[in-house]
Amino acid sequence: MEKLGITHYHELTKHHFDHYARSLGYMDWETQPIPFRFYENTNRVALSLLKQDPKATVSELFTRRVFDKRRIGLEVISGILELSMGLSAWKSTAQSRWSLRMNPSSGNLHPTETHVLIPNADGLSSGMYHYNPFLHALELRATFPDELSEKLYKLLGGEGCYIAFTSIFWRESWKYGERAYRYCNHDVGHAVAAVSFAANLFGLRLAALCELSTDQQKNVLGFDKITWPEMDEEHPDLICSIVPNQVPRDAINKGIPHDIISAISELDFVGDPNPLSASHHRWEAIDRAAKLAHKPHIVADNFSYQRPLKIAFHDDAMGFSGAAVIRKRRSAVDFHQKKSVIEKREFFTCLARTVAVENTAPFDVEIGTSSQVHLLIFVHNVRGLSQGLYFLCRNQDHFEEIRRLSKKDFSWEEKDGNLPLYGLAYGDLRKEAEIISCHQAIAGESAFSLGMIARFAPHITSNEYRYPELFWEAGMIGQILYLEAEAHGLRGTGIGCFFDDPVHSGILGVENVAYQSLYHFTVGYPLEDTRLQTLAPYEHLAHKK
Ligand SMILES: Cc1cc2nc3c(=O)[nH]c(=O)nc-3n(C[C@H](O)[C@H](O)[C@H](O)COP(=O)(O)O)c2cc1C
Repeated sequence: MEKLGITHYHELTKHHFDHYARSLGYMDWETQPIPFRFYENTNRVALSLLKQDPKATVSELFTRRVFDKRRIGLEVISGILELSMGLSAWKSTAQSRWSLRMNPSSGNLHPTETHVLIPNADGLSSGMYHYNPFLHALELRATFPDELSEKLYKLLGGEGCYIAFTSIFWRESWKYGERAYRYCNHDVGHAVAAVSFAANLFGLRLAALCELSTDQQKNVLGFDKITWPEMDEEHPDLICSIVPNQVPRDAINKGIPHDIISAISELDFVGDPNPLSASHHRWEAIDRAAKLAHKPHIVADNFSYQRPLKIAFHDDAMGFSGAAVIRKRRSAVDFHQKKSVIEKREFFTCLARTVAVENTAPFDVEIGTSSQVHLLIFVHNVRGLSQGLYFLCRNQDHFEEIRRLSKKDFSWEEKDGNLPLYGLAYGDLRKEAEIISCHQAIAGESAFSLGMIARFAPHITSNEYRYPELFWEAGMIGQILYLEAEAHGLRGTGIGCFFDDPVHSGILGVENVAYQSLYHFTVGYPLEDTRLQTLAPYEHLAHKK
């Protein structure tokens, strides 16, 4: 079975018009996982909430500014975590109450956890900590001896820390069954972009340690020493460094030397991860997929960026600050169809922000070797553009191949000399957009919706560990679109439920597995659910002060 490879997992977990990917098919409330991980029996360091958000515009979320040399202290680390992985609100009805976070998550299930490795920061002892977003606190899992702190500090170039992203598959598979591994990886992408933007507000950049294998990450995180509650374990996805913006991207290490990994793995780790459910349903397809996508140690290639775009960006027109759009980001559950309209220049801004250009957040985190994901866009209501099907080619190297493989009657009409956006076919595609997104009205009632089309085989078949990376890239695009939508007074929603083959074969016309649809997104004017009450994100801690 294992020989079948990761593409088998992908095929197995497609939604088709006549059947959905396998899941329980009902909500088993008895086994609903706790949405928060606690490392019990650790020293907890309570973090302060920001008294004032960093002053930066929306466009400054993307561009890199160099600040005066500033120490990465407790305050900065706390601010980054609050504005990326922290809570953003509580919602309640008469019957129930649930929290929302700065980062979105499929089904609001939040499988992504973060850990920080801090060698030297004002106000904090050197060590490895788990970030607990419910308490907005760091849980100390291991203390670094001076010698190790010194080595890590030097490796970071004299200033910085590391952050690790991990996934608890069960949180997501509880509801979504076998397809959940995809969603966990989308969520990692959202989280990586969220941390990249938040760090940039403090003059810091996020850079992937893409040479580390999955096993090395396990060692670094001390996961091989933990006795996990059954099926509640965390899977290591990615470790990144966080360093000042003035450090050139190509001067940042992409790995950690073996002697340092060994020294970390020999530390005394403490903390007992809390059990999340009383019992579980095992989805073996997910365990198999994670095993197949196990990453070996690699020597990383240089990341190839796209040429800078010569377009005028309009994301500051409404005057929101970067932190304000992060805080008000929400998923729309319903759109006002008539008010769901966007100006062409704003639409172009949203698209241009998704192109990976050097020295620009979030793609200068540098995952993989180049952009692999393109946007197949349903334009419903963009003032100044005809309704229809468009294509944003995020990597020019793929353009000829996609054009050759897709429908022969597409016009591939260039829409702006400075943006790789092409008109393919014109007409009202609201119904089609809705149908292929599992009949969700939000895909048709918006200003625009889109499918993310990834270069798939042989890219994936020869390097199966690249499979999750495609979903991370898609998630990062989603995070950009969420923030851009807010900046333009609109709202977005990630769409994980779509019928796979009808998108890339039925609509784009690519019949084989060379390109596959991985994630959908929609942007429009939100209709609020006025029955819900909204509470402050940390009001549950207020009484403890
Ligand atoms: C990967 C992913 C897939 C999602 N899929 C859907 C979807 O198919 N339909 C939908 O209405 N919302 C979808 N959402 C939105 C989530 O339900 C939403 O993020 C979650 O409820 C948290 O709410 P918030 O985004 O307002 O914080 C998705 C979000 C993510 C990140």
